[in-house]
Amino acid sequence: MQTFNDIASLRAEIHRQRLAGQRIAFVPTMGNLHAGHIKLVTEGLRHADRVVSSVFVNPTQFGPGEDFDNYPRTLPRDQEQLSAAGCHYLFAPPVEEMYPGDQAQWAKVVVTDITDRHCGAARPGHFDGVSTVVSKLFNIVKPDLALFGKKDYQQLAVIRRMTTALCFDVDIIGVDTVREANGLAMSSRNGYLSAQEKARAAALYQSLCRAREHILQGQRDYGAISQEAELTLAAAGFEPEYFSVCRQDTLAPATADDRHLVILAAARMGRARLIDNIDFSLS
Ligand code: PAJ
Repeated sequence: MQTFNDIASLRAEIHRQRLAGQRIAFVPTMGNLHAGHIKLVTEGLRHADRVVSSVFVNPTQFGPGEDFDNYPRTLPRDQEQLSAAGCHYLFAPPVEEMYPGDQAQWAKVVVTDITDRHCGAARPGHFDGVSTVVSKLFNIVKPDLALFGKKDYQQLAVIRRMTTALCFDVDIIGVDTVREANGLAMSSRNGYLSAQEKARAAALYQSLCRAREHILQGQRDYGAISQEAELTLAAAGFEPEYFSVCRQDTLAPATADDRHLVILAAARMGRARLIDNIDFSLS
């Protein structure tokens, strides 16, 4: 695997590959990689000839008081994992390469509406940072396809919306969430949990599964389902932020007539803010 720190040399290499007829897959990450990230790379290899990954802790998607400074940076280990997975190229730029010069000269990409609720409401400006950096990375890599985890369901929806609305010629592929044995979704932020908290945090996925069961059995009072889940989460030591039964397409609250559903949840435990979700359809 070749590592690039600057835009020009990565572009030159990808250009050579494209001229040679190679199909390019792209997996953007913020590093501190785990099996969930690696699954995106493995899926990329199934769809393309060359896989490019990026490791960049993007400052513009962190709000004031969030964990940008403390976000785990583990580049040598990330490089080993990517290389072992068969990734061909890693782009790991310094912040000045992605955001040079005076902030007043920058531009940002704003996806409207779908960013208003859930994590968008809890973390103002977060999705502007995500859509801006992903646009820049798409313009640098110019991939044929890009892979994103369903673990960050709203992010995936925002990227799909952005890609369509801004006519990026990139296929977006959503990849299923990789979980620990106890069901906890793998996340770089799980490292903030103690062993005991990690065991208790399995309650987040369990409460999503239980809510799905209630709905599959015919319950349609989504407000009551959410309320019950938030109480269960609080009893397990979480501070629930939202637990919401939504439509898959708009992420707006679902009505009893909607068939394609996703339950989105966010909750804090100790130092960690965890998110998870489950999507399913009613026949
Ligand atoms: P990061 O949190 O590092 O995640 C990178 C990609 O890995 C995202 O598409 C995310 O959904 C996926 N991912 C994380 N945990 C996963 C799991 N348990 N199973 C499957 N996929 C998982 O998301 C970001 O970085 C950033 O916002 C980024 C898109 C790179 C823009 O800065």
